[in-house]
Amino acid sequence: MSIRAIILGAAAGGGLPQWNCGCTNCNLARAGTIPSLSQSSVAVSLDGTSWALLNASPDLREQFARVPQLAPTDLRVSPLRSVLVTNGDIDHVAGLLTLREKQPFDLFATAEIQAALSGNPMMAAVDRQLVPRRTISLETPFELLPGLEARLFPVPGKVPLYLEGETVETDLEGEQTVGVELAAGATRMLYIPGCARITPALAERIDGADMLFFDGTLWQDDEMIREGLGRKTGKRMGHISMSGADGSIAGLAGLEIGARVFVHMNNTNPVLRPDAGERAEAEAAGWIIARDGMELTA
Ligand code: MLT
Ligand code: MN
Ligand code: ZN
Repeated sequence: MSIRAIILGAAAGGGLPQWNCGCTNCNLARAGTIPSLSQSSVAVSLDGTSWALLNASPDLREQFARVPQLAPTDLRVSPLRSVLVTNGDIDHVAGLLTLREKQPFDLFATAEIQAALSGNPMMAAVDRQLVPRRTISLETPFELLPGLEARLFPVPGKVPLYLEGETVETDLEGEQTVGVELAAGATRMLYIPGCARITPALAERIDGADMLFFDGTLWQDDEMIREGLGRKTGKRMGHISMSGADGSIAGLAGLEIGARVFVHMNNTNPVLRPDAGERAEAEAAGWIIARDGMELTA
């Protein structure tokens, strides 16, 4: 059995171009020189007719309009069956508000992420009668779609920006940031759009996957600071970098993975420029740089 995945949005929060950003990449995207990218979300299906969303981005409306497989099949009948969110970040949950139009689907997340959602009174607009909140325990298999088994696992990360306190632990392992493993027959796909660090347990889980979608936020840890765009490092944001000895390219290099795909790219990441040396380096290491609309099957 094979799993189909459509990358609805390949960018991190803010997208490319970001509304208020005049960095090199954002200006190139505005000029049409490099492709624009919408915010982080992937749609998956087994049969091509029932679909599940992995994260619901603020760009969901346009993303659905662009993908024929997600078009309604009748008056107010969507092929969307379920939504899974991997953390409570705005780029991964704000699209739930777009899905409030009286459409039934299951909403899967850990208890901690469900609490972040319920803690926001605006989320009550997503009617619980039609959209049951399914609380999922770590490492406990459930059906994301008929025949498609899913399992959530902890990934080092932090709480959403809007829940940060005085001090922030940026590589907590718990229910606030998870990855998802999908299995259909012998096929395994992993989706990990946010990850602060590659632990031995994480590497072991990734090894042998047919398809991996992985946190591609930054090329290097101080990229935002170098570009003069902010004061935060990747580490502070809970994101590992692609490059460097402790980066994801090196950290996952020895593993056997069918297709390795970077998603959730920040608009500062040089790999978004087709002619950049950094992109050639990532591709030479076997990585695919995701684009909106890209479809992969494993
Ligand atoms: C992140 O991935 O670090 C968050 O989406 C940042 C944000 O909430 O803007
Ligand atoms: Mn994000
Ligand atoms: Zn920018």
